[in-house]
Amino acid sequence: MIVCMDRNRVIGTGSGGLPWKLPRDIAHFRGYTAGKFMLLGRKTYEEMTGWFTTQTPIVMTQQEDYQPAEGHVVRSVSDAIKVAADAGADELVVSGGASIYRLALPYADSLVLTVVKAELEGSAFFPSYNTGIEWRELRRESFLPDEENSFGIDFIWLERVRPEAKR
Ligand SMILES: NC(=O)c1ccc[n+]([C@@H]2O[C@H](COP(=O)([O-])OP(=O)(O)OC[C@H]3O[C@@H](n4cnc5c(N)ncnc54)[C@H](OP(=O)(O)O)[C@@H]3O)[C@@H](O)[C@H]2O)c1
Repeated sequence: MIVCMDRNRVIGTGSGGLPWKLPRDIAHFRGYTAGKFMLLGRKTYEEMTGWFTTQTPIVMTQQEDYQPAEGHVVRSVSDAIKVAADAGADELVVSGGASIYRLALPYADSLVLTVVKAELEGSAFFPSYNTGIEWRELRRESFLPDEENSFGIDFIWLERVRPEAKR
């Protein structure tokens, strides 16, 4: 799973869009997802229209007749894993929003977090996760704010401590 969140796990304003401008994180997100299958909730997918280049979106919706402009449609996380596996992918990158992160966390092997060093207003959140018990930190890179990136950020890579405990 890949996410950009603030210290309180805020990921969005609730009215669409992100509560920060961080080109450094956008480059990281684009680089990490390049060439991969991405699982997205229907709302996030629609916010990202026109964004996909080498990525293949898998859109989760409850609508029977939903037709995304690109990619695949699924009704569950397990269906999305199957679509990606059947296509020969060895990774499915869960890319939000809040409802999809909540549903997919029990299936995840690794978390690629961007933590924005700020406390911002928002109404969409990443679910709580348990560092040290369920998740082990592998690596961290820190960046200070600069002219283009208004907040400092940490990129943090975590892996599940007991992979056999995932769904
Ligand atoms: N900071 C980040 O890294 C990041 C990343 C992604 C998104 N975001 C933010 O997250 C927010 C959006 O999150 P959200 O939770 O409102 O929307 P979302 O997760 O993007 O999409 C919600 C939609 O997913 C579908 N869905 C949800 N649960 C489902 C289920 N059990 N079965 C089938 N389909 C299901 C439904 O689509 P239908 O209504 O079509 O049935 C639902 O309306 C935005 O603010 C966005 O900017 C932030």
